[in-house]
Amino acid sequence: MGVIARMRLWATRWRMVLGLASLATGISSGMAQAADLPAALAKAETCIACHGATGVSQMPETPSLAGQPESFLQWQLVYFRSGTRKSAVMQPLAASLTDDDVRVLSKHFASMVPPPRATASGDQAMYTVGLKLAQQNRCASCHKEDYSGAQAAPRTANQREDYLLKALRDFKAGKRTGGGVAAMADVVYPLADDQLRALANFMAQYH
Ligand code: HEC
Ligand code: HEC
Repeated sequence: MGVIARMRLWATRWRMVLGLASLATGISSGMAQAADLPAALAKAETCIACHGATGVSQMPETPSLAGQPESFLQWQLVYFRSGTRKSAVMQPLAASLTDDDVRVLSKHFASMVPPPRATASGDQAMYTVGLKLAQQNRCASCHKEDYSGAQAAPRTANQREDYLLKALRDFKAGKRTGGGVAAMADVVYPLADDQLRALANFMAQYH
């Protein structure tokens, strides 16, 4: 995709976010008398525009959140909020989240049913290369045997392939420096781009 097309895509997403953000603000202020919980959950309405109503994303380069470890989600929202993790889309959204919002939203998405096996590109050969690379690089030592994630390490099983690849490339390029920075930077450092593609392909169709 060309730079201009990308910028147009972001602009479209932004208009949608701003529209939804004001909608969510309306919902939460309408619930001002109620407990904090529904107010925080009302903010989830903003999230599902991109991350999907069931926490399974249909949007390019946008991760599914369903079934992620609760603490991983909390950490990432805090990283976005502090600017430690860069994202033109997520940083401004996270900026308005309170600690309670972070807790409630993370619990909410963590409790959802994890995504089904994703439709991935490539062929069986690519998947097999990815599987072998994952074993050689001991990805499961942190992401768990079934890649369902634990604590600060995310679920990668059946995540969107395009997002997995983007994340791996961001770590490699030093663009993503959240927590566990050293861990993922060290892991991807020796890997070539075609190896990152094979790993993303394998993890997207893990079953
Ligand atoms: C306009 C679309 C959009 C909206 C609305 C949105 N997100 Fe995101 N979100 C993204 C994109 C795109 C990324 C990936 C950023 C990157 O490439 O690093 C992301 C990343 C994340 C991540 C990191 C997940 C991971 O696997 O690394 C979390 C957590 C998250 N969003 C939570 C939320 C929550 C909670 C809300 C609602 C308050 C929300 N998002 C609203 C687009 C959106
Ligand atoms: C030493 C532990 C460790 C090992 C080994 C490891 N990871 Fe990670 N991985 C992490 C942590 C921690 C994070 C979260 C980093 C952050 O906070 O930004 C992560 C994040 C990721 C992400 C981003 C996913 C998302 O939802 O944002 C991908 C993709 C990923 N790892 C793939 C891999 C692959 C593929 C391998 C093997 C080649 C691997 N990891 C090996 C600890 C590890």
